[in-house]
Amino acid sequence: MKRLGIIISGRGSNMVALAEAVANGTVPGTEVAVVISNIPTAGGLELARERGIPTFVHDHRGVSREEHDRQMAEELQRRGVDLVCLAGYMRLLSPWFISEFENRILNIHPSLLPAFTGLDAQRQAFEYGVGYTGCTVHLVDRQLDHGPIVRQSVVPVLADDDVERLAARILAAEHRLYPEAVNLILSGRYRIEGRRVLAT
Ligand code: GRF
Repeated sequence: MKRLGIIISGRGSNMVALAEAVANGTVPGTEVAVVISNIPTAGGLELARERGIPTFVHDHRGVSREEHDRQMAEELQRRGVDLVCLAGYMRLLSPWFISEFENRILNIHPSLLPAFTGLDAQRQAFEYGVGYTGCTVHLVDRQLDHGPIVRQSVVPVLADDDVERLAARILAAEHRLYPEAVNLILSGRYRIEGRRVLAT
């Protein structure tokens, strides 16, 4: 069994999509070992508990970034986590954490990277006037929304869109994309060449 650790800060819909993909066999041979949140009131915590997934809150307030990350790492390692999935985790990880889990951390971002990094990517894309945007799952390196791209999904911007409708379609695409990316990484059937993740 491969073990996923999912880190959230908010509503947790990508965490739920991953947990459902694990439960229905879309991501076979895998279990969600733990869901960690840095925000005690994150809605996703309850959704994880309802699914019988162990949850932990590691509040980042009052500790240094690295100390916070060491607490999370201890929890992940104690549970034998093979792959860390960031799912709406709204903080930067320390260089220490990224080296500790080198090439074993995925993030999902609601744009076609490298366009529109950072917060509110759906609104950035809408206001820029692009015809196509989407979502990206990438390996995490030391720069924000930057590591090698594992999978992308394109979402067209429609003539009568507003930011909310566009964001909802991107989110639906995220929920399909993240399990696919997790499958590829857990299968081990890929190699990284420079910035490229190539299926082998
Ligand atoms: C998603 O749009 C994800 O791409 C971004 O943060 C949002 C998290 O949403 N990193 P949810 O908590 O998974 O519903």
